[in-house]
Amino acid sequence: MIKVENLTKEFKTNGHSFKAIDDVSFQVDKGQVFGIIGLSGAGKSTLVRCLNRLEEPTSGKIEIDGLRIDSLNEKELLEARKDIGMIFQSFNLFNQRTVFENIAFPLKLAGETKEDIEKKVSELLDFVDLREKRNSYPSQLSGGQKQRVAIARALATKPKVLLSDESTSALDPQNTDQVLKLLKDAVDKYQMTIIIITHQMEVAKDICDQIAVMENGKIIERGSVEEIFSNPKTARTKSFIKNLPDQAEEIVLDKNEFKGDLYRLNFGKQTVKQPIINQLLKNSKCTINILSGNISTIGRDSTSGYLTVEIQGEKNDIRAALDFLEESKVNVEVI
Ligand SMILES: Nc1ncnc2c1ncn2[C@@H]1O[C@H](COP(=O)(O)OP(=O)(O)OP(=O)(O)O)[C@@H](O)[C@H]1O
Ligand SMILES: [Mg+2]
Repeated sequence: MIKVENLTKEFKTNGHSFKAIDDVSFQVDKGQVFGIIGLSGAGKSTLVRCLNRLEEPTSGKIEIDGLRIDSLNEKELLEARKDIGMIFQSFNLFNQRTVFENIAFPLKLAGETKEDIEKKVSELLDFVDLREKRNSYPSQLSGGQKQRVAIARALATKPKVLLSDESTSALDPQNTDQVLKLLKDAVDKYQMTIIIITHQMEVAKDICDQIAVMENGKIIERGSVEEIFSNPKTARTKSFIKNLPDQAEEIVLDKNEFKGDLYRLNFGKQTVKQPIINQLLKNSKCTINILSGNISTIGRDSTSGYLTVEIQGEKNDIRAALDFLEESKVNVEVI
């Protein structure tokens, strides 16, 4: 649906040329939410702005729904942009226009009739839950409400793609959740494809299907949200994930997805630093599959942790493994 090949963007400043985007290729399927994370200056905004040619790419191919965006002339580009909505951290609303007029703006540009505009804007106001703010001005709205107006405006022309550049960064957690829910609803309702830049890992975790990590104009790591969070490969990705406040929370596993029984092994202060699992794996006849785990610091100097494991094998062997764990003072819970 979105296909980017060998995209490069060079900026020339004071005689120096600098690649803000350096030979980037990726694809996003229809209906997917594709997240881009990376440090400030990594090239995220530039990359996304190249997709609708707010920034002119230096070289490379950009294809959206079969249309080669990079080779469109100005008139064709204006037409194509109706299919590519964009929302920003700073909302970019027209302050002199009401909520209704802001949302109606792209429809007016597209030459729609008054009746159609009325109908579509009302529908969008319902969708973003702002009916009663129809005649308010942006200055009379909260940050979350402003962003919902911006989303309604971006959705007005029923774009195939929505580009979101840090659209939740200025919002408190509650408004962030509301905006993310709207974006998820938009994917379901309009079969949209979303590219979302965020520095909030909890946002990426909540909404993305795929994640790309950018550094120095390149994509250095890419994968499904599960892959990126459970098995980050680069130091950069690891550093992002480490800062996630709820990473210490346990992953919920569906035991019906596993053949063997699931156990949670709790390690306390005495057991957390001992090679108990090593001994278990060496001596047991069972197949032991580690599914999730965590060690966290509690207070100033104590650590505790857990491992969730799947154990498969003969009944007696499983019993022996569990006995060994009990003897080693590991607390075992059946899941
Ligand atoms: N118009 C421009 N002229 C020259 N250099 C630019 C221009 N726009 C961006 N850059 C440079 O390109 C690099 C990438 O910038 P970009 O805004 O894409 O980063 P970003 O990943 O979005 O960062 P942030 O997280 O801070 O928004 C930066 O080094 C920036 O200084
Ligand atoms: Mg940016």
